[in-house]
Amino acid sequence: MSPAAEAADSAGRRGPAAVITGIGAYLPPDIVTNDDLAARLDTDDAWIRSRTGIARRHVITPGMATSDLAVEAGRRALESAGERLPDAVVLATTTPDRPCPATAPEVAGRLGLGGVAAFDIAAVCTGFLYGLATAAGLIASGAAERVLLIAADAFTTIIDPADRGTSVIFADGAGAVVLRAGTHQEPGAVGRVVLGSDGGLSDLIEVPAGGSRSRSSGVAPKAGEEYFRMRGRETYRHAVTRMTAASRAAAAAAGWATADDVDRFAAHQANARILSAVAQELGVPASRRLSNIENVGNTGAASIPLLLAQSAAEGALLPGHRLLLTAFGGGLAWGATTVIWPDIKAG
Ligand code: UT7
Repeated sequence: MSPAAEAADSAGRRGPAAVITGIGAYLPPDIVTNDDLAARLDTDDAWIRSRTGIARRHVITPGMATSDLAVEAGRRALESAGERLPDAVVLATTTPDRPCPATAPEVAGRLGLGGVAAFDIAAVCTGFLYGLATAAGLIASGAAERVLLIAADAFTTIIDPADRGTSVIFADGAGAVVLRAGTHQEPGAVGRVVLGSDGGLSDLIEVPAGGSRSRSSGVAPKAGEEYFRMRGRETYRHAVTRMTAASRAAAAAAGWATADDVDRFAAHQANARILSAVAQELGVPASRRLSNIENVGNTGAASIPLLLAQSAAEGALLPGHRLLLTAFGGGLAWGATTVIWPDIKAG
């Protein structure tokens, strides 16, 4: 490549853009309502609705795994893109089928993409945004021309069924996008992905047992340490602060000066009150906020692509909309980016 071609453009970008060219989502068919949870936990529909905005959520059936969700969402995104096959598969998940190896190679093989680059990303609920940055990097560097990015979580496999604090929130699902090399000016081009983390707060959201730290300790895990834990109230506060700041930075990088420049706002569906707080801080009116948390709960990394696929299918997200995305979760990790929504049909 010539030095001229290697040089960054006026916005500091090198190489081709990653352009969204297909999207798909998948929810397992089983539904758990708030009343179903209230029948076995000390909770009730009114508490869950008022504190989280959730009414029902989809869950896997016994025997299913994350790869089953990922394959279906990936297949739908590939159909939506309807063009050449990708040369890389990236899977963002907190619930891999097994601790080793990564789940992405199996997903790639089941999609008929055996042989392509395939790996997992562990960034919990921010996995889709870390995945977008990774896909953009693969494309910008020339390592891939097309990337299938899947975000899939079977959170119910790590939730403590006796913990009302997390059982009412987390659920299962998958979403996926296909990205291809293109120009930074065209609809679908992923803007600068603003990312951050704070490992000093890693214990706010964690699965304590099962990793090298607990395995090498020589001490058997205590009961329940294999389950996901969240210190909800503290997490809530950081979620609002970090998503607001990341959203501002991503919008500024796109040259969007005010909230009027944002046609649609899609935040990780963590909790309806968190979404409202972030949108209010940013000045984005309710009519421009996308949300599906009432019907799907918090689906981890899958949350944003699932929301985009459903919103596009229902006509709430239209070609040309200036879309601001943000997510936050365990790590702690957070991120945000912008996209002008492309003219694609959701699969
Ligand atoms: O996706 C990754 C990032 N995750 C998030 O951003 C989630 C952030 N946190 C949250 O969404 C909220 O903190 C929760 C929904 C988890 C909890 O809502 P909250 O308004 O922060 O409630 P809280 O934890 O402060 O608890 C308030 C009360 C407590 O009782 P006391 O101590 O006031 O008597 C809890 O024990 O509500 C109680 N409580 C419940 N009551 C009925 C907690 N969970 C439940 C429940 N049903 N399921």
